[in-house]
Amino acid sequence: MTKKTEGKKPANTKSKTTPEMSPVLHKFFIDELKDIYWAEKHLTKALPKMQKAATSKELQKAFADHLEATKTHVQRLEGAFEALGEKAVAKKCEAMEGLVKEGESIIEDTEDGTATRDVGLIMATQKVEHYEIATYGGLHQLALTMGHNDVADILEQTLSEEKEADQLLTSIAEEHVNYDANSEE
Ligand SMILES: [Fe+2]
Ligand SMILES: [Fe+2]
Repeated sequence: MTKKTEGKKPANTKSKTTPEMSPVLHKFFIDELKDIYWAEKHLTKALPKMQKAATSKELQKAFADHLEATKTHVQRLEGAFEALGEKAVAKKCEAMEGLVKEGESIIEDTEDGTATRDVGLIMATQKVEHYEIATYGGLHQLALTMGHNDVADILEQTLSEEKEADQLLTSIAEEHVNYDANSEE
């Protein structure tokens, strides 16, 4: 299953001291890719519900835009599997399942059409983004360590989009949603 570049240094490696790829670490890396692949696919189903539940037009648009970005994240991961010669397989991510459930419970616990609901949706989604940022940040570094530079580039693109989404949510909260919620009865 593990492909070794026998007698050959991995391509595009800057460091002369890059160790030979560990089969155990390689397997761990692939398993983590399967985990985030499941998570991203799960989010493509969750984000439309968040969009529908959101009160402010700005937040609805943020969810709609991030849904499109998330579909691209799924495709990028498929590209990463392909570059590694692995099948794209999704492995259930318990963490993402839990985070999405938390977002759904916010919808149940808040009133339709309120800014308070948006506060809750923003916080729940930022927890999701932070999970993704941690995952892609770690995977990007691992890909570099193992000399998978093409895969590292793919992961870095998604990482920066997750950070942008997180920042956008912060600005929506700080510019009006938090204040609007604070003036609700
Ligand atoms: Fe994503
Ligand atoms: Fe995301």
